[in-house]
Amino acid sequence: MRVAFVGKGGAGKSSLAGTFARVLAATGRRVVALDSDPMPGMAFSLGVAQIDAGLPDDAVEEFEETGRRRYRLREGLTGTGAIERYAVRGPDGVHFFQLGKARGARWDNTRQHFGFQRVLDDLPGEDWSVVGDLPGGTRQPFLTWGRYAETFLVVAEPTPASLLTARRLARLAVTGSAPRVVVVANKVRTPRDAEEVAERTGLLLLGAVPFDPALDEADRLGRAVLDHDPTGPTVTAVRSLVAALSTETRAR
Ligand SMILES: Nc1ncnc2c1ncn2[C@@H]1O[C@H](COP(=O)(O)OP(=O)(O)OP(=O)(O)O)[C@@H](O)[C@H]1O
Ligand SMILES: [Mg+2]
Repeated sequence: MRVAFVGKGGAGKSSLAGTFARVLAATGRRVVALDSDPMPGMAFSLGVAQIDAGLPDDAVEEFEETGRRRYRLREGLTGTGAIERYAVRGPDGVHFFQLGKARGARWDNTRQHFGFQRVLDDLPGEDWSVVGDLPGGTRQPFLTWGRYAETFLVVAEPTPASLLTARRLARLAVTGSAPRVVVVANKVRTPRDAEEVAERTGLLLLGAVPFDPALDEADRLGRAVLDHDPTGPTVTAVRSLVAALSTETRAR
């Protein structure tokens, strides 16, 4: 399974993606949780302590091609090797790999950014699952950092702005390389909220996650909701999402 969580800023991508990755890893699969957002998010929802870990500079080498400076993983280092070596092992055995957090002026991050992209180009194969948390917005998910995805999972709140974002993302996704786009209704308060998300986006509704104050509490404590409220409504709903997407994936 290779799934990327997309959606409007604040829709709940990181909260759900981190929980999803751990639930999947707890079933015994090898899971890479990929955080492509330079702002922190997934480390917290996974409950990983090393929130700044990224690729070290020496994993990436510069070279020149037709007079231009370019970057590649150092000789002998593959994408899988980079995940095995540099991903942080988190709870439930999840491998957390992220674009290193911004550390100074823009060009200080160039090596890491290109290195991260090279890893995305060469992710581990069939026996690994990939769960990605993408930054809000439309450009990065489809043009660069979401290209590994077989499924784009749009997280949408039942608000006009979130639904409009979901429709735009869905249009962009079909023109990209991803074969499939599904939607998850988040922060729903009534069954009608979820129906509205399905109707207004026109996407397959994979599931719904209720509005859950425990998530806000977990955020304030800097804890994963899976550790804070393991049997609560969010985790229960995410378990259903994992089951639904696993069934969907097998059916294809
Ligand atoms: N089901 C929910 N019930 C209540 N609050 C929620 C729910 N899902 C997410 N939230 C809250 O919404 C806020 C945004 O969530 P999160 O950071 O996961 O969104 P995001 O889409 O990753 O945002 P960003 O675009 O900034 O990366 C957080 O305060 C989180 O606790
Ligand atoms: Mg986020």
